[in-house]
Amino acid sequence: MQNSIQVTGLHKSYKQLQVLKGVDFEVEKGSIFALLGSNGAGKTTVVKILTTLLKQDSGTATVNGFDVASKPENVRQVISLTGQFAAVDEILTGRENLIMIAKLRYLKNPRQVADDLLNRFGLTDAADRRASTYSGGMRRRLDIALSLVGKPQIIFLDEPTTGLDPEARLEVWKIVKELAGGGTTVLLTTQYLEEAEQLADRIAILHEGRIIASGTLSDLKKRFPSAKVEYVEKQPTLEEIFLAIIGKKEAK
Ligand SMILES: Nc1ncnc2c1ncn2[C@@H]1O[C@H](COP(=O)(O)OP(=O)(O)OP(=O)(O)O)[C@@H](O)[C@H]1O
Ligand SMILES: [Mg+2]
Repeated sequence: MQNSIQVTGLHKSYKQLQVLKGVDFEVEKGSIFALLGSNGAGKTTVVKILTTLLKQDSGTATVNGFDVASKPENVRQVISLTGQFAAVDEILTGRENLIMIAKLRYLKNPRQVADDLLNRFGLTDAADRRASTYSGGMRRRLDIALSLVGKPQIIFLDEPTTGLDPEARLEVWKIVKELAGGGTTVLLTTQYLEEAEQLADRIAILHEGRIIASGTLSDLKKRFPSAKVEYVEKQPTLEEIFLAIIGKKEAK
């Protein structure tokens, strides 16, 4: 199968600090790929290089077959990025934010594009309120909606659910699954193992500058010694309790 993203021997340092020391991975077209790593592992650095915001020191990366360093324009045409920190314009309403991006992308019918995305992301009722009045979850949804204007083939989501409550997190997961179901390639970064477990076709763990493990969830599980079977009463997790109380079911 054709790869949407191919990364080989990526190195990047900020002055003395070596952040990426030879990162290799590939992402299949239409799949969800999760890049896992703790704070400061270099996830955002990888995303910035792949989205042409930052140049690597050495190594190569191609997105949709285009080299990110020599063909950034071609790369930009097929991707979108939802950064780690929301990019919505607080002064504008949700609708105005979407229309602005649709116009910047020279789409024919910006109003229609905005209406469709507002509807899809459950923001129709809040469409004409300033984004500054939105909750964190609503803002994140608007942020992701903004990155879908113009139907990019590959989307990058840098920690899409950090700081969200469990309900909003499930909403984002649902959106990500729908995107991949529709053929979009998704690369997301996360610090949450559970998020990678729920969403990703393939997972790569970035640690001390390199990918130390990668594969499907079952590949990764196989790398660890088989679990010792113990009989214990299973307590519900806090997340399960929270969701039960507020009446939401786990989105699967
Ligand atoms: N512009 C910069 N100048 C100097 N150091 C930087 C710069 N950007 C990132 N770093 C450093 O590089 C390392 C990797 O940062 P990066 O943002 O890629 O990590 P991350 O995995 O995304 O972390 P987080 O989970 O906190 O978002 C960190 O130690 C960070 O302090
Ligand atoms: Mg980051």
